[in-house]
Amino acid sequence: MKIKILTLFPQMIEGIFKESILKRAIDKGVCSVELINIRDYSTNKHHHVDDTPYGGGAGMILACDVVDRAITAAITKDSYKILMTPQGRPYSQVLAKELSLKKELVLICGHYEGFDERIRSYVDEEISIGDFVLTGGELAACAVVDSVIRLLENAIKKESFLDDSFSNGLLEYPQYTRPVEYKGKMVPEVLVNGNHKLIREYRLKESLRRTYLRRPDLLENKEFTKEEKALLEAIKEETK
Ligand code: ADE
Repeated sequence: MKIKILTLFPQMIEGIFKESILKRAIDKGVCSVELINIRDYSTNKHHHVDDTPYGGGAGMILACDVVDRAITAAITKDSYKILMTPQGRPYSQVLAKELSLKKELVLICGHYEGFDERIRSYVDEEISIGDFVLTGGELAACAVVDSVIRLLENAIKKESFLDDSFSNGLLEYPQYTRPVEYKGKMVPEVLVNGNHKLIREYRLKESLRRTYLRRPDLLENKEFTKEEKALLEAIKEETK
């Protein structure tokens, strides 16, 4: 997959590709990442990229001509263009999976107090990473790119994300490693005994319990298996 990020602050983003899984994915050729500075497409002699809003008001607005030129230079026939904005479609693991199937992503980070409304017409989709306002789209783009890259073939072992929170519509079950007792806190017995049938059942039940207690909204539209229904009933009894 090719990923291109259009930003006024490439240095804010650079670091995440120099460490850990994202670095390894790039080194292995799983994906390529190009940071494109929107300012390079300013035709203004002072390299300005923004201007005051029509109608008055505080702040400066990112102008559409410079963004248009940056997008035009970056895209190919395979590009899926995304604008990072708090007004966009709420980001989720489902959307991460959708994006991981694209050949090329072009993410555009807004910054400053806002951007010219006409920029919206240049993209395929607008994405928000949550109901809060960041100083710009950079951190949001990082979150999207990170969550997409780990889903790409050969970025990490498949088993590592099969049980991810959200991947089956549930939060992930609790995990433990050695020691079996730490300051009086024990690892649940079932995980230590090596009975794989019981471990699978424990994990499914704890996944359901976590989701029921912390994110009941996730259960509203979920289709349950017979086993899940029975486990959920038991959890409800236990928490009465
Ligand atoms: N830019 C500023 N805030 C944002 C958010 N919550 N999501 C995506 N882009 C943003």
